[in-house]
Amino acid sequence: MSDIKFDGKVAIITGAGAGLGKTYALDLAKRGAKVVVNDLGGARDGSGSSSSAADAVVAEIKAAGGEAVANYDSVATVEGGENLVKTAVDAFGTVDIVINNAGILRDKSLLKLSEEEWDIVLAVHLKGAYCVTKPAFKIMKEKGFGRIVFTTSGAGLYGNFGQANYSAAKMGLVGFMNTLALEGAKYNIKLNTIAPVAASRLTEDVLPPEFFKKMKAEFITPLVVYLASEDNQDSCMIFNCASGWYSRAAIVCAKGICIGDGVRDIPAEEIKENWAAITSLEDNKVLTAGVAESFGYLAPLMS
Ligand code: NAI
Repeated sequence: MSDIKFDGKVAIITGAGAGLGKTYALDLAKRGAKVVVNDLGGARDGSGSSSSAADAVVAEIKAAGGEAVANYDSVATVEGGENLVKTAVDAFGTVDIVINNAGILRDKSLLKLSEEEWDIVLAVHLKGAYCVTKPAFKIMKEKGFGRIVFTTSGAGLYGNFGQANYSAAKMGLVGFMNTLALEGAKYNIKLNTIAPVAASRLTEDVLPPEFFKKMKAEFITPLVVYLASEDNQDSCMIFNCASGWYSRAAIVCAKGICIGDGVRDIPAEEIKENWAAITSLEDNKVLTAGVAESFGYLAPLMS
C-alpha cells in the first residue's frame, strides 16, 4: 500500500472543532497538510459561538508537529466564507482542499417547523457550502487543482422522520456537487459527497446506544482523506459510510418508455396503462455527463 501524503497541500475543513471534522483535520495534518481549522464553536442547534473548539484542535495538531491555523467564522455568510479562504491564503498561500462539514440540527416534523428553523439549517449546510466553496473554487481553477468534499446525509438521500429542513439542505448539496463537478472537470477539480453515520453530539440522541458505541467518527476519516487526496481521480460520486461500511450511492436514470410520436397528445390514461414501465428501474445508469445525457432517451421521439 502506498502512502497518501499531503505535503505542500492546504486544506480548509469547516466545523473542524469537533466530531467528524476534527478527525479529518488531525489526519490530514499528520499526513503533511497545512490545515485551516474552521469552527464557529456554537451549540448543536447553531446558537452561540466560541473560539475554544477550533483553538483546541489547532493546539493538538501543533503539539503533534503539524501546521494549522484557526478560523472562527460562520460558514453561513458570504463574508464568513471569504474570510475563511483569506485565512488560508494569508497563512499558507493557497487552498487545495475544502471539506464542507460544518452542520447543525433543528429537528421538527413539518407542521411544527418554523421558518427560522428552516432558514438556519439551509443557511449553514447549503448556503454555507456555497459561501466557502466559491472563493476557494476561484483559486483552484487558477491553479488547476482542487479537491472538494461535501457532506450529505442518509436523511437527504433516503429521508428521515422529523428532518425535513435538514434533508432538503443535504440533498441540495448533491445538486450543487453535480453541477460543480461539470464546471470543475477541466481544471482538475474533483468533488465528491459523503453520507456518514457516526457517533457525535449530532447523533447522541438519534442512534441507538449500542450503535453509538461502535460508530466511531474515525471510520469516516479514511474515506474523506482519500477523496481529498491527489490520488483520487473520481468526481461527482456519493458514498454511504459508517463503522467501516463504504458504499457508493447514486441517482440513476432508467430506460423508461417513450409513448406516442413526439407530436400527438398523450392522455393521462396512457400514463396509467404504462405505469409499470414508467416506474421500473430496469436498465438504469448514472448520467455522468449531466442533464443533456438524458436527452438520448428521447431519440425515438425526435426523429
Ligand atoms: P458535530 O456537531 O460534532 O460537528 C459539527 C461542527 O460544525 C461543530 O463543531 C459546530 O460548532 C460546527 N458548526 C456549526 N455551525 C457552524 C457554522 N455556521 N460555521 C462554522 N462551523 C459551524 O457534528 P458531526 O456529526 O461531526 O457532523 C459533521 C457533518 O456531518 C455535519 O454536516 C452533519 O450534518 C454531517 N452528518 C453527520 C452524521 C453523523 O452521523 N454524525 C450523519 C449525517 C451527516
